[in-house]
Parts: sequence; C-alpha cells; structure tokens
Amino acid sequence: MAKTKKEYPLNQVHRLLQSGPVVLVTTSNKGKANIMAMSWYTVIDSDPPKLAIVISSDNYSFKALRSTKECVINIPTVKLASKSVSCGRSSGKEVDKFKTYGLTALPASKVKAPLIGECYANVECKVIDMKMVEKYDLFILEVVKVWIDPVKRPQKTIHHLGGDKFMVAGNVIRV
Ligand SMILES: Cc1cc2nc3c(=O)[nH]c(=O)nc-3n(C[C@H](O)[C@H](O)[C@H](O)COP(=O)(O)O)c2cc1C
Repeated sequence: MAKTKKEYPLNQVHRLLQSGPVVLVTTSNKGKANIMAMSWYTVIDSDPPKLAIVISSDNYSFKALRSTKECVINIPTVKLASKSVSCGRSSGKEVDKFKTYGLTALPASKVKAPLIGECYANVECKVIDMKMVEKYDLFILEVVKVWIDPVKRPQKTIHHLGGDKFMVAGNVIRV
C-alpha cells in the first residue's frame, strides 16, 4: 500500500463514488405534489432506459412512490442549488415545497407527478420492480418520457460532496 495514502472511512465511500448530479424527485399522492432531493441513484440500462433509486422509508416521498409507482426525476442547475437543498432538508409531511420554495409544477405527459418548470431536464418514470424496497429502500424505474430545455450544454449541475459542500459541473474536455 502506498505510504502516501491514508485509510478512508467505509461509511463515507459513497462520497467518492456517488458524484452524479443532485436531482429532485417529484411525486403526487392523493392530489398532493411533493419534492425531495436525491443523490443515491444509478442508470442500470439504456434501452429501454432503467434506473435504480434509493429513497429512505423515513421520507414522505417513499410512501407516495410506493403507492402511486410514479415519479419525475428533475435535474436542477446551480441556480437552483439553495432551493434544491431546502427540498432535501424539509419534509412534505409539514411543508408544501412547491409553494414554500417558489417552484413551478407543470403537468407531465405519462405520469401524475409534476415536472419542476425551473429544472433544465425532467425524466418521467414508472416503478417496474419493488422486490428490493423492503430490504434496501431500492426502487427500479423505467423511464417513459424525457424533457429538456433547448439550450446548449454543458449544464452547471450540482454534485453533493457531503455536508454543505457541492461541486459544480460545467467544464467539457475531449480526450
Ligand atoms: C443533496 C441531498 C441528497 C439527498 N439524497 C437522498 C437520497 O438519495 N435518498 C434519500 O432517501 N434521501 C436523500 N436526501 C434526503 C431527503 O431529500 C430528505 O430526507 C427530504 O427531507 C425528504 O423529503 P420528503 O419527506 O418530503 O420526502 C438527500 C438530501 C440532500 C440535501
């Protein structure tokens, strides 16, 4: 083992591996729309596109997703950093997050959960497998529709580094 390396805590390894953009998951249950921040997800197939996402059973969004089996994954940019984090530090149990954080709910085309108008991309999803929900809070989703702002990339997405630290993407290199 290189002497220049030091041991890294096992329970922090997700900080090294999980660098996808922070996203905002919207659900709609019994007419009530909600938003939560999410970092723990991965693509597991591209055609048809499928995702695996982890939503803690403590979260209000968990019950909404489990019963409606539909959500939208909205991708914010740095302009929405503060509102996005607020969506991850408050619960739909107590707060109407669309109203409180001034975000716009737009109708989706294939699911009842709303799109967040201010996000640059919106991914409509349906739950297709809940076998791992009990054990790992893990839902398998199929993407059924995707919307994107017709602006040039790269987008300045935000990536959680732990605590109150975020990295902003945006540089593109060709290798
Ligand atoms: C940057 C960030 C990323 C988060 N990622 C996740 C995640 O992947 N899974 C999860 O269950 N909670 C995650 N959370 C926490 C939830 O967003 C938080 O518990 C939220 O209050 C849940 O809202 P709800 O009760 O309205 O569903 C994250 C929070 C932040 C700030």
